Amino acid sequence: MADQQGAAIATKHETVLVLDFGGQYNQLIARRVREAGVYCEVVPYSASMDRIRSYEPKGIIFTGGPASVLDDGAPKADPAVFEMGIPILGICYGMQLMAHMMDGEVTRAPQREYGRVGLTVDRTGKLFGDVSASTEAWMSHTFHVGRMPSGFRATAGSANCPIAAMEDPSRGLYAVQFHPEVMHTPEGTKVLRAFLYEACGLKGDWNMGSYAQEAIASIREKVGTRRVLCAMSGGVDSSVAALMVHKAVGKQLVCIFVDHGLLRKDEGDQVEEVFRKQFDMNLIRVDAEDRFLARLAGVVDPEAKRKIIGEEFIRVFEEESKKLGTLEVFVQGTIYPDVIESGLGDAAVIKSHHNVGGLPEKIGFQQIVEPLRMLFKDEVRRLGEELGIPSHIVWRQPFPGPGLAVRIIGDITREKLDILREADHVFRDEIAKAGIDRQIGQYFAVLTGMRSVGVMGDERTYDYTIALRAVTTTDFMTADWARIPLELLATISNRIVNEVRHVNRIVYDITSKPPATIEWE
Ligand code: XMP
Repeated sequence: MADQQGAAIATKHETVLVLDFGGQYNQLIARRVREAGVYCEVVPYSASMDRIRSYEPKGIIFTGGPASVLDDGAPKADPAVFEMGIPILGICYGMQLMAHMMDGEVTRAPQREYGRVGLTVDRTGKLFGDVSASTEAWMSHTFHVGRMPSGFRATAGSANCPIAAMEDPSRGLYAVQFHPEVMHTPEGTKVLRAFLYEACGLKGDWNMGSYAQEAIASIREKVGTRRVLCAMSGGVDSSVAALMVHKAVGKQLVCIFVDHGLLRKDEGDQVEEVFRKQFDMNLIRVDAEDRFLARLAGVVDPEAKRKIIGEEFIRVFEEESKKLGTLEVFVQGTIYPDVIESGLGDAAVIKSHHNVGGLPEKIGFQQIVEPLRMLFKDEVRRLGEELGIPSHIVWRQPFPGPGLAVRIIGDITREKLDILREADHVFRDEIAKAGIDRQIGQYFAVLTGMRSVGVMGDERTYDYTIALRAVTTTDFMTADWARIPLELLATISNRIVNEVRHVNRIVYDITSKPPATIEWE
């Protein structure tokens, strides 16, 4: 059966299901559908028909995937989905599967297509009414539909793929060989919207304003008169989750914000300012810097740092929460990508740093509330804006739980933290001033631990090297280094060496991930 929370949303809103065959863009398809105003969830292709029906979907999308439909044991949809009487859109592998499961034929393409290709479309096709007759699309395939199933007609073609799209509107079946969800298909959104609005006849009833109202009401009902605890890190997810619960039950919620002293410049004060002053939340800020620094003294190994910080966090949190008496409910900022099941059948894996190191299990709450469980990150940000959180907090880049500890190579001292905080502040300030902060996925300074010789005035210096790291990425699994304008790098470098004591050299990290990671530790 569907995730309880998901099913509750799905039955209240028009819902489209993405049937996941393991392709790399599958979450992106769901995000695009939601951006078009339609609630959408991703389920593995192997989901039972009972589960699929429990969402009462108004349309289904078959995704791409790495397999070939001609292989033995290739993933297939349950043929009963074709009997549901709702429109289906097959994308890439999904198109080939549709053809293969009916009486069409899938063949090896004479030439593999990869990348952006020219596409000629038939604008009378149901999905292509708004698309230019000649457009571009992103392709990535070795096989293609050689012969369409009976009843279908081709609605788009490329030089190497004559049947790049096909449809049989009488049965509500549509398919495209290209990827409408990626940004390299410039008119892809129009194709997806046409599927939702023309083929499925939907109206679009999914937006963060109405979700906020519904979710707040349901949290209120679930929590009743019980008291609720939240571990707030100041990051986007835990802040928005906490605020949702605060809107639902007000002062029944207590937030503990453990300040481990490894935050960026002014960050702790900002969190306090916004959530205590602006929203009048019950927020306890615990100044635990000394404890964390004492335990980290002399520790060099990155994983040892992470372990110590995780353990100490739980210890401080437990001590503080004990002082509050019994709190029955715990708020967690889990988001949809943490719980989505992969199409290839792996169990959902929740990253340990997302649920603050197994905290709820340890303290033993009656209930956990996860207001963001069904939302993508971009929806969390829009929800945060909807609730009135200032944009500098809502649009904050990701910041690792262990904070600056993993951005100081070698051992951590208060002095090094101060140097790094100042350098990082200058970097972020200049990026924001240049107006490119939302184009760069993550950007920060690293204290490399290396010292080198410099000259300042007439004096020789022997000081630290700061590395600047900035990456563009969509999923943080892979990333490219950001091409920051050289003039801007020059300004940043000048400012840091002039304004931050004990720094005499700045380097810019020009490695992608892989082979490097985004963080240095
Ligand atoms: P890497 O360095 O693995 O980082 O390329 C990918 C993303 O994960 C963040 N990151 C962490 N987040 N605890 C966290 O909460 C951690 O220990 C941690 N390590 C890396 C990193 O900032 C980037 O966004």
